[in-house]
Parts: sequence; structure tokens; C-alpha cells
Amino acid sequence: MKQRTLVIIKPDTLQRNLLGEVISRFERKGLKILAMKMISIDDALIAEHYEHHKDKPFFSDLKRFMQSAPVVVMVLQGYGAVEAVRLIVGPTSGREADAGSIRGDLSMSKGHNIIHASDSKKNAEIEIYRFFNEDELFNYKKIDFSAIYDGEELKEMEK
Ligand code: RTP
Ligand code: MG
Repeated sequence: MKQRTLVIIKPDTLQRNLLGEVISRFERKGLKILAMKMISIDDALIAEHYEHHKDKPFFSDLKRFMQSAPVVVMVLQGYGAVEAVRLIVGPTSGREADAGSIRGDLSMSKGHNIIHASDSKKNAEIEIYRFFNEDELFNYKKIDFSAIYDGEELKEMEK
């Protein structure tokens, strides 16, 4: 199914000069970049985005970390993109994430874990509009999709 997902590249990635590496992994996977920008996450955005974690013991550290430097937010599109992106990102802790995943290859921490990716189709759509306006989402034809996808998949992606 044609899906969009939201990714936040966290401050540790920027500080460790891994921004290009992370973006490149999404490009090589075959995902289409619909939107991308660098922002500072203000208190209101943190409160909204991590509302479900606000009573957790790590919340204040998470807030401080996410505001320690700018982040890069991206919208990625592909067939089954929500699950495919979570899979290449890996589980929360970099120490436990499989080799080959972004967190598994590039991080050692549970908190400083390189990236956020939406965890469901419903949350993806909510999170996309938390960070982007409709006019910031680019609509263009990705010419390599005809090589990346088979016939049925391509038909779905071109809808
Ligand atoms: P994300 O939301 O960032 O994609 O990561 P996730 O689903 O794998 O992890 P989640 O449980 O939603 O936690 C959100 C972020 O909070 C930080 N965290 N720190 N120190 C800790 O025990 C702890 N647990 C979570 C991480 O930055 C995690 O990505
Ligand atoms: Mg999460």
C-alpha cells in the first residue's frame, strides 16, 4: 500500500556528522523524499510529539536532548513505507538493534538513538502534519520507481 511516514533525524546525528549517511540509507532503500527541513523543536512541539512519554522518568532528558541542537524532519513515501522504515531504523536501543539497521550500525544508546520514525500509518499522518504544512509536501514523479517496484506495486505507487 502507498504510504508516507515521518522521520526526525535527532541532534546526535547532526553532532556526529552522520546526517548524510542516514539520508543516504533512505535514498538507497528506494524511498521518495516528499519533504525535508532543519528546525529547532520548541517546548510545545516536544510536549505534543512525546505526550505519551510525559510521565516517564526519561522525559526531561529526552526533552533536553531533542532541544540540544536542530533536528532534520523528513517525509518519506513508498510501498508499505511505515513498516519498511521502522525495520531499517531498528528497535529503540542501538545496543540491541540488529547490525544492518541504522541504529544497530550507528548508535550505542537507548536515548541518543539517531532517529525517530512513525510507528503506525495513523500516527504517521498525524506526525506529518505536526511538522509540515500541505504546501511543503512536494508532489513529483520519482523516475526510479519503475525500476524499484514490480508492475502491481508501481500501479499502486502511481495512483
Ligand atoms: P522513536 O519514537 O524516537 O522513533 O523511538 P521508539 O519508538 O523506538 O522509542 P519510544 O519508546 O517511542 O521512545 C521515544 C524516544 O525516547 C527516548 N527513550 N529513552 N532512556 C530510556 O529508557 C529511553 N526510552 C526511550 C529515545 O530517544 C526514544 O527514541
Ligand atoms: Mg516511538
